[in-house]
Amino acid sequence: MFFSALLLASSAVASVRAAYPAGVVATGTQGTTNPPAPTMPTTINQKSMARLLSVNSIDDFCLFAPPTGPSNIADTETEEVAWCTLPRNNARVIPDGVITGVSFLKTDFYVQILGHGDFTKLTVAAGDAGGELDPHGAEGTGNPVGGNVTTTVADGTDLAIAEWMLYMSADQFCLRACYNANATYSAAAMCEHKLDVMGCEFVMPGTYHEAGTFETCDADVAYPPGWYPEVSGGTTSYSVFAQYFTGVYTGGNGQPTSYTVGDTITPAAPASTPSSSNCVTKATISNGIAGSLLTADAVGTAPPDGFSSSTPLTAPTATPSGGGAASSSSVAPAASSSASGASGALTTKKSTTANAGSTPAGPKSTASASSSGGATNPTGASAAFRGARVGFSNTGEFAGIALVSLVACVAAIGLLH
Ligand SMILES: *[C@@H]1O[C@H](CO)[C@@H](O)[C@H](O)[C@H]1NC(C)=O
Ligand SMILES: *[C@@H]1O[C@H](CO)[C@@H](O)[C@H](O)[C@H]1NC(C)=O
Repeated sequence: MFFSALLLASSAVASVRAAYPAGVVATGTQGTTNPPAPTMPTTINQKSMARLLSVNSIDDFCLFAPPTGPSNIADTETEEVAWCTLPRNNARVIPDGVITGVSFLKTDFYVQILGHGDFTKLTVAAGDAGGELDPHGAEGTGNPVGGNVTTTVADGTDLAIAEWMLYMSADQFCLRACYNANATYSAAAMCEHKLDVMGCEFVMPGTYHEAGTFETCDADVAYPPGWYPEVSGGTTSYSVFAQYFTGVYTGGNGQPTSYTVGDTITPAAPASTPSSSNCVTKATISNGIAGSLLTADAVGTAPPDGFSSSTPLTAPTATPSGGGAASSSSVAPAASSSASGASGALTTKKSTTANAGSTPAGPKSTASASSSGGATNPTGASAAFRGARVGFSNTGEFAGIALVSLVACVAAIGLLH
């Protein structure tokens, strides 16, 4: 019985999912600490080690943060755990008030959130400039290990996606979950995870607001992180910025070899900042769960009041503790302006040049795709592919940047011709 139900379920999923381009849907198993599938509601467990994020709406999403703390993200990237706005996925629950602003942007290729909050309440160390989390990592099993992401934004059902990235600091995060691809943009390119010192507004440009605004918008698709279009004779090609780093690789013969990868000139800005439209604002987001139930190490015995098994996935029934305004949303003027001005305040925290000695330059100062000819991967192994502290030069941890991007770019150019 159980097995045939499983088989039925998996074949139903397979037939629905066949529509997705290659590289979009996660095909492997869930991390060992995760439930087999996204689940709502689940019992409060603020000691949980589950690592399954769902990214569904402005008030139904999850983040990764340290299991104990205060800890810097970069020091704990393999062991982060899931914290969700709702009691789901056996994850820890983010108490009301922690998140102070959210821009939730839906595009044809990905869903993207930029948010503000006091993440010291999720055990991130005060002042931590942040780190980058993604499904790759040193072991190839994700940072954190066994971390997984689903979204309902693509088709209304839980879709396990292969490519995502989350930049998390003490007071800000940005998260992109990639659910589409075409011959120009692979999911891996659109969720490129190796520009880890470039910061949110470079890697995930969009129309964002200061803390205090909660907004859901449609948005145009950005160029993949680090890509710059060049139109010549009616044909578009792309140059690709590769983050600079140096390191030492010890080969099979035991001999250490130094290597250098990436561009010495760091671009000042992404190629463009996509506009948002059809924005809907909310006063705040809230799960209505009493803070006393969500203290460190709190463990419940049943889903919290207001969340029964019939609770709709994206609509908590509980009313907010402060103000009662969370459920009343208003439609903002459609089509807000492009973000070049709006994102100004976000540029200080994490924006940085990728290497000491580089000078911010115009967007076109990037590696050219043709430079990949004859190059070999200097890192050899994936051991150096760990995320790094956002905003800090952390030599040796930024490996593997240039070649994957360049190969993807060459492939894209080939397809365009
Ligand atoms: C879970 O994450 C691992 C590591 O990134 C990945 O190999 C696997 O496909 C993911 N599984 C699901 C169901 O998302
Ligand atoms: C892929 O999608 C992007 C964004 O919509 C578009 O500009 C590009 O032309 C598409 N590529 C192909 C091959 O359809």
